[in-house]
Amino acid sequence: MSFARVEEVFKLNEGERVRLRGWVYNARVQGGLAFIDLRDSTGIVQVTIKKHELKNPPFESIVNELKREASLSLEGYVRHDPRAPNGVEILCESLEIIGKSEEYPIRKGVGTKFLLDHRHLYLRRQKFQAVLKIREKAVEAAEEWFRMNGFHLVHCPSFVIAACEGGATLFNVDYFGKVVHLTQSSQLYLEAAIFGLEKVYTIQPSFRAEKSKTKKHLTEFWHIEAEVAFATHEDIMNYEEDLVSYIVNKVVDESQKELELLGRQFEKPKRPFLRLTYAQAVELVNKKGIKMNFGDDFGTDAEKLIANSIDRPAFVMFFPVSTRAFYHMPNPEDPNLTLSSDLYAPGEGEITSGGQRIHDLDLLLRRLKEYNLNPEDYKWYIDLRRYGSVPHAGFGLGLERLVKWITGVNHIRNTVPFPRTPFRVYP
Ligand code: 4AD
Ligand code: MG
Repeated sequence: MSFARVEEVFKLNEGERVRLRGWVYNARVQGGLAFIDLRDSTGIVQVTIKKHELKNPPFESIVNELKREASLSLEGYVRHDPRAPNGVEILCESLEIIGKSEEYPIRKGVGTKFLLDHRHLYLRRQKFQAVLKIREKAVEAAEEWFRMNGFHLVHCPSFVIAACEGGATLFNVDYFGKVVHLTQSSQLYLEAAIFGLEKVYTIQPSFRAEKSKTKKHLTEFWHIEAEVAFATHEDIMNYEEDLVSYIVNKVVDESQKELELLGRQFEKPKRPFLRLTYAQAVELVNKKGIKMNFGDDFGTDAEKLIANSIDRPAFVMFFPVSTRAFYHMPNPEDPNLTLSSDLYAPGEGEITSGGQRIHDLDLLLRRLKEYNLNPEDYKWYIDLRRYGSVPHAGFGLGLERLVKWITGVNHIRNTVPFPRTPFRVYP
């Protein structure tokens, strides 16, 4: 008889035989009786061991090994019992300890730092697994959406020379005696790829040497990025809205069990998404008492304020040149502004940035100078404007920001198995 998964036993009939394997989530021994909550990747089921019904091995020989996180395999039969969690228990007839467990260090009351130091064990927590399953579902949905919409997958390098998002957040790496950087965004490479493949995307890590301690920044995050030839800023907002809606709808439809486990009531966002200009957003922020000037970027408080005043995702459009990286296309109606936007998730804040890129050679050369960037480092990128340049646009969506929004976890580090933050690269 092959091993069943825990989730399957709840569909079995009274008396059906079953083999299971997994880990002890919890164990209680009372005289000749032991109750184990056995967990595998699909759920938790109660296993009852009665001394006289355990055929093999003798009860006494295993009773002291039934410790939290011990791994075991067992055989028994299904009993429907309304007192058991979800109405089912397994009456155990034989059991084998596969791996003993020492005193499990994660206990009620241990602090956040302890849990982060033991992230390699914390991964066993059911609620955390629910978040990881939702994250997986979001990636699956994104890949599906790109495929359905004619995008090609292009993998980009992680070691780079040309910075995409400015010098302040660049990681330096000793590359055989030469200093290179970890990529902040695959955008520049995706721009090169559109001249062959037209609609391209990637899902891969980006790195930011962001030393700020916030609940929404990682030093390494997974970046969902797309770039489209002949697309305008307007086109790219429409793509973003469609992609984000698709992902969120799929998670709500297919990860209900996980959302319930997290106690998360999450509703599919209404469409169309809201659209407000940067100027309107600044006005809103100022009206609600946070002082900022036209030309400033939104700080943490301002971002929160905007996020809390929307009932569905909202684009903030046309950021001033002063707030954006060198590659942004000026708005023809006001060259101090750019054809760019951030998508805000309600209650969460920025989850994407995107817009139209400069495709004119002379303007790009001027901008590189204004931003004090070395044209030598960008030679290949400049080249793209020499051979059949076309208007184009793209965006980047932070996977962890998206998952944080959907799951409602309190910190971005809880959306990723092994978070990388300014003060943590262990485990
Ligand atoms: O806004 P960002 O910096 O934009 C870019 O990198 C563009 N080059 C993307 C593009 O157009 N292809 O980053 C895009 C998104 C942000 O909106 C946010 O969701 C996420 O990436 N992000 C981070 N997520 C976690 N930790 C960080 N330190 C992040 N920095 C950006
Ligand atoms: Mg941004």
